[in-house]
Amino acid sequence: MKTKITEKFRTLFGEDGEFFASAGRINLIGEHTDYNGGYVFPGAVDKGIMAEIKLNGTDKVRVYSLDMDEYVEFGLNEEDAPSQSWARYIFGVCRETIKRGGKIAGFNTVFAGDVPLGAGMSSSAALESTYAFALNYLFDCHIDKFELARIGQSTEHNYCGVKCGIMDQFASVFGKAGNLIRLDCKTMDYKYFPFHPEGYKLVLVDSVVKHELASSAYNKRRESCERAAAAIRKNHPEVEFLRDARMEWLEEVKDVISGEDYMRAEYVIEEVQRVLDVCDALERDDYETVGRKMYETHYGMSRLYEVSCEELDFLNDLAKECGVTGSRVMGGGFGGCTINLVKNELYDSFIAKAKQAFSEKFGHEPKIYDVVISDGARKLQ
Ligand code: GLA
Repeated sequence: MKTKITEKFRTLFGEDGEFFASAGRINLIGEHTDYNGGYVFPGAVDKGIMAEIKLNGTDKVRVYSLDMDEYVEFGLNEEDAPSQSWARYIFGVCRETIKRGGKIAGFNTVFAGDVPLGAGMSSSAALESTYAFALNYLFDCHIDKFELARIGQSTEHNYCGVKCGIMDQFASVFGKAGNLIRLDCKTMDYKYFPFHPEGYKLVLVDSVVKHELASSAYNKRRESCERAAAAIRKNHPEVEFLRDARMEWLEEVKDVISGEDYMRAEYVIEEVQRVLDVCDALERDDYETVGRKMYETHYGMSRLYEVSCEELDFLNDLAKECGVTGSRVMGGGFGGCTINLVKNELYDSFIAKAKQAFSEKFGHEPKIYDVVISDGARKLQ
């Protein structure tokens, strides 16, 4: 990838720049909890985005995307937003950096990536954090790592229409090889957990389906949670987010909120607790409990939060039949992949079975990615 980027950069701009990279992410457990102030448990992966960048002394950004085979040029003012959705991520990062006092000027850049798009591994966070990190470095902005993650999140909110939480960008900026990170999204306290499950593998099974309107459905889930939290807050003013609520308190407002909002909130309150249970289990190397909680999450995401789909439910059932320790839909949902905790000795038969049964039913094979937990945003030598 680096060679291809270098070649293209030389062809387009006739010189060399500096290299930066960042990563996509997995999440062991804690889904749709981040924007509810709850816990998440992600890690960066060995698939990401790489970019070569050099300041160009103008006020224009000149970007070439190798994967889209497309060149875009834009200015740095609010009205200069490009129409290409991939370019809006970079434009958004520039704008959000400027809003935080960063003195950004024009630059030339070529980038490429190997995070599968739409698989739920957050290729967009990888892209945002690559540029947030790089611009901070190249323009000497002195923005701290939390704020770099927030630059990516605000880019999604303000330039891409997704009211996401902080998990993806946080994992992409703070990722550390061999470690998962438990993040409290309310206080932003985090802790690295070395993750080397003896005798198990983590593997992603990608359904390669991406359902339309995923971002508007995502935003609707968030609105449901905010309505439920607001109703509970009337009785319990300490409830800032759903994460602060107890099941009994949700029960109290059952007749005040819609049945749908109730189900969404029920899932979130349970999911926040599951992350803590998984952390305890990990400290005892109790992977059976970790796996059981993953299945519970899948059930909740499918039946209560309703962000699964036929293909993902099928993969989840299949994992259960094959004796896989834990399995669930990963990321925002509405397509993408399942994350599976599989005993080493079951790995080959599970993957073979998943490929065969899935393609018999849906007409194409799922893609398989072994999880390698890696570093997040960084400058390359
Ligand atoms: C997407 C969002 C995250 C998070 C997950 C669900 O990846 O970007 O903020 O909400 O969905 O856990």
